[in-house]
Amino acid sequence: MVIEETMKIRNKKIDEDDFLKSRKEVLAIWPTGKDVDLNEAVSYHKNMPLHKNLVNRLIEAKRTEQTLFHNLAGFTTLGQQTDLLLHLQNAGRLDVFFCIYDSFTRTGRFGHVEEVVKECEKTGKNLLNGFPVVNYGIQGNRKLLESVDRPLGTAGPTVDSRLASEIACASGYTLLQDVSFVVFETYTKTASLEEILRNFQYSNRLAGYYQERGVPIAVRASSAASASNAPGVAPPSLGISGRVISALIVATQGPKHICLMNSSDGNIAQDVATSITGEKMAREYLDRFGFTDVELYISNGCMGGPYPLDFDQAFSQVVYAGIVGALSRSQLVELKTFDETRAIPPKENQAKSAKGTRMMYNIMKTPGLDFVNSKEVKIEIEVYERETRAIVEKILELGNGDPLIGVIKAYEYGIMDNPVANNPRVKAKVMGVKDAHGAVRYLDCGNLPLTKDMMEFHRGKIAEREKLLGKKADYDTIVSDMRALITGEWLHH
Ligand code: 5AD
Repeated sequence: MVIEETMKIRNKKIDEDDFLKSRKEVLAIWPTGKDVDLNEAVSYHKNMPLHKNLVNRLIEAKRTEQTLFHNLAGFTTLGQQTDLLLHLQNAGRLDVFFCIYDSFTRTGRFGHVEEVVKECEKTGKNLLNGFPVVNYGIQGNRKLLESVDRPLGTAGPTVDSRLASEIACASGYTLLQDVSFVVFETYTKTASLEEILRNFQYSNRLAGYYQERGVPIAVRASSAASASNAPGVAPPSLGISGRVISALIVATQGPKHICLMNSSDGNIAQDVATSITGEKMAREYLDRFGFTDVELYISNGCMGGPYPLDFDQAFSQVVYAGIVGALSRSQLVELKTFDETRAIPPKENQAKSAKGTRMMYNIMKTPGLDFVNSKEVKIEIEVYERETRAIVEKILELGNGDPLIGVIKAYEYGIMDNPVANNPRVKAKVMGVKDAHGAVRYLDCGNLPLTKDMMEFHRGKIAEREKLLGKKADYDTIVSDMRALITGEWLHH
C-alpha cells in the first residue's frame, strides 16, 4: 500500500491552478475560512510595519549576530492571549511570539473549540492548551497582531495545518512550521506519512505563494527524532537528516527563508555542533538541488524532555537555552518555562523565564568565544556530518533522487527512525544513550546505514560511561537518566 501511495505524491511544486482549486476545499472546513482573500491579505502584509515581518528581523539578526527570543505561547481567549503577549513583550522582553494552537484546533474539532471559547469568555477560565487561531479568524488574529509590536508566528503539531496556516498568513503572521516528521513519529497512529506530507506541501505552497508576491514568510523545518520528541535517546544525525530532507521539501514549494529547529539535550559541545552541522548539511543539499537563493537560520535553545520537579532546578534548565544560543550564534532561541511541568504556565512565569534566559545569553555572548571552532565541537561536527551524509544519501537513493518519496520508504525500512516513537509504523529499532559527559550516542543504530567504523566512535564513548557505571549501558540506564533529570541529578551514577 505504501508503494502505491508514494507513487501519487512527489516532491514537486504544486501547480498554481491545482493549489487555488484545493484552497476552496480547505477554506470551507470552518466558516472563518471564507474571509481569506489572498490579494487583500498580500496588501495587508505590505502595509504592515517592516519590523513586524519576522523575515526582516531574521535577516537583521543574522547580519548583526543577534538572537531573537521567543516561546510557544497560547491561552484560550483573544483577551487572554493579547494580555499574555503584551506581558511577554513588556515584562519578558521577548522578540517574537509563536502562537501555538490548542489540541482541538490541531485535530480539527472547531465546533468544540467554539463552545470552550464561549465558556472561557464568560467565566474568564483558560481551558485550552493553546490559542485557537482558526476560530478567531482573520478579524481576531489581526486584532492580536495589531495589539503587539512584534512579529507573530504560528505553530502546532498537527496532521493538518492547512486552514490554520491560511488564517495565520492572511492575518499577518510571518512564520509557519512544517512538522511532518515529528507528527508522524509521535503525534498520530492513524494518518499516513503521505497524508501528512501532502498537507504540509499545501502550507509550504501557501508560504511560497506569499513569497512570490513580495511577502516573505519564514518556514521552520522540523527535525526528525531529536531532543524534543526523543530526549536523551536520539543521537544528532537522526534529527539533522530529517531537517535536511525537510528543508528540501519546504524549499520546493517556494519559501525562501527556512529556520532549522533543534532542541538541546544538555551537552554543550553536542548541542552547538548539532545546530552547526544541521545548517551546513542543509546548505549543501539545498545548493545541490538548485535552491541557492534560500536563506537558512538556526533555531535552537530549549531543552527537551523532563524538567526537574523543583522549579529552582528547572530554572537552570530553562536558561541553558541562552548559553546554546550565544555559543552557536543562532538567530532564534526557543524558551520553555520553569513551571511548565505543572500546567500551562502563567504569564508571569513565562516572562521570568524569558528574562533569565536573556540575561544568561548576554553573559555568554559578551566574551565573544569562538566555541564553534573549538576542538570539542569540531570533532562532533565531523562525526554528525559523516553520519548525516550516509543517511541522507540512502534516503535520496531510495527515492531515486526524490527526497519525499525517499523519506516515506526510509521510514518503512527504519532508515528514518525514532527510538521512542509512539506510532507503531515507525520501526523504533534505533536506541541512544548518554555517554560519560551527557552527550547522546548510538547504543544500537538499528537499520541506519552507519558503517562499523562510524559505530566504533559511539562504542568508545559508551564504554567510558560503562566504566563509570561499573556495568553495561542498557535500557535501565536510559530510564535512570530520565529519572535523574527529574530530580536535578543530571546523569544517573
Ligand atoms: N503555553 C506555553 N508553552 C507552551 N508549549 C506548548 N503549548 C504551550 C502553551 N499553551 C511549549 C512548552 C512545551 C513545548 C512543546 O511547547 O514549552 O514544552
